[in-house]
Amino acid sequence: METRVLKVDSIEKDYNNIIEAARVIKAGDVVAIPTETVYGLAGSIFNEEAIKKIFIAKGRPQDNPLIAHISSIEQVDEICSEFPEKAKELAKKFWPGPLTIILKRKSCVSDTVTAGLDTVAVRFPSHPVANAIIKEVGEPLVAPSANLSGKPSTTSAKHCVKDLNGRVPLIIDGGDCEFGLESTIIDATSDPMVILRLGAIPVEELLEVVPDLVYEEELTKTGENEIPKAPGMKYRHYAPNAPVTVVTGEPYKTAEWIANNSNKDDGIICFEEYASLFTEHNFVLNFGSYSNLQSNANRLFRLLREFDETDVKKIFVQCPMNKKIGKAIINRLQKAAGGNIIEIDN
Ligand code: TXA
Ligand code: MG
Repeated sequence: METRVLKVDSIEKDYNNIIEAARVIKAGDVVAIPTETVYGLAGSIFNEEAIKKIFIAKGRPQDNPLIAHISSIEQVDEICSEFPEKAKELAKKFWPGPLTIILKRKSCVSDTVTAGLDTVAVRFPSHPVANAIIKEVGEPLVAPSANLSGKPSTTSAKHCVKDLNGRVPLIIDGGDCEFGLESTIIDATSDPMVILRLGAIPVEELLEVVPDLVYEEELTKTGENEIPKAPGMKYRHYAPNAPVTVVTGEPYKTAEWIANNSNKDDGIICFEEYASLFTEHNFVLNFGSYSNLQSNANRLFRLLREFDETDVKKIFVQCPMNKKIGKAIINRLQKAAGGNIIEIDN
């Protein structure tokens, strides 16, 4: 299959390409589209053939449900049987934006979408291109992250091409994603509500709106006995080709440890403050500043993917701060590392 890439720099100027994306989706095919978190592989929620194509293009296990993306709050009622007041409050505060809310589904949402669950995940993205495409199609779009299953999510059209060239008919290039990390997922069918996946909205911000929100520190861990609430979290994830080692502790100590325990052809992701320790190394990528978690989030998947263009045999990563969006970054890093974490005592 030929994969076309169409650019949307401005909604007004490039509206033809929005219309083309909507046309392909309405015809029952799938399109990679930009969102503010990561790129999504979108298809119509009511078209079983399209949904099957999404699973096939990604190589995604069938028991991993999809998120429905909407472009107005009213669309919740099209696919959900209940929209509890507390969930509405969350939506009012964080939508449009990188929050996914799990609600009871209506029967018009198929088992293929929800992997047989009686709930559906719903998100109202803030990205203008995602919004325009959903509006133009006129119904919610299901969209998992637009990467091959197991690989890091894609945060640019270039990376979508890398994973999906020849597997999907169309990729919409809307530039780099703002957050670089997937949405935070909250289960609003339980009381109190529970965070199922850490993500682009930090726990601290959610607690301000929902003080009794349940957040299990366990979500930041990965291990043999982990029982994931979001089915997708149990799979090997976010993994570049070379094995990843994450080093946690004070940044000057983790930098020093990596400098002493790596060889010059290993891949290094370090904070810019410590770049001077790695001048002898050949593959050093800048994680941004230790004090700027958003810059770390923004670069994470892109940097992991950059090493796939090299033949590094090992990748070492300095661990960011364990607060705010740093908790979600650490969660993704732990999965990328498959539990291969080194803790440096402070
Ligand atoms: O930011 C995001 O959320 C991106 C963009 C494209 O919107 N999407 C994304 O989708 O990350 P995906 O499919 O890569 O991850 C969705 C996660 C999976 O872990 C899945 O198991 C979980 O959401 N999920 C979906 N429906 C669910 C449900 N009804 N109950 C619990 N977990 C659900
Ligand atoms: Mg994903």
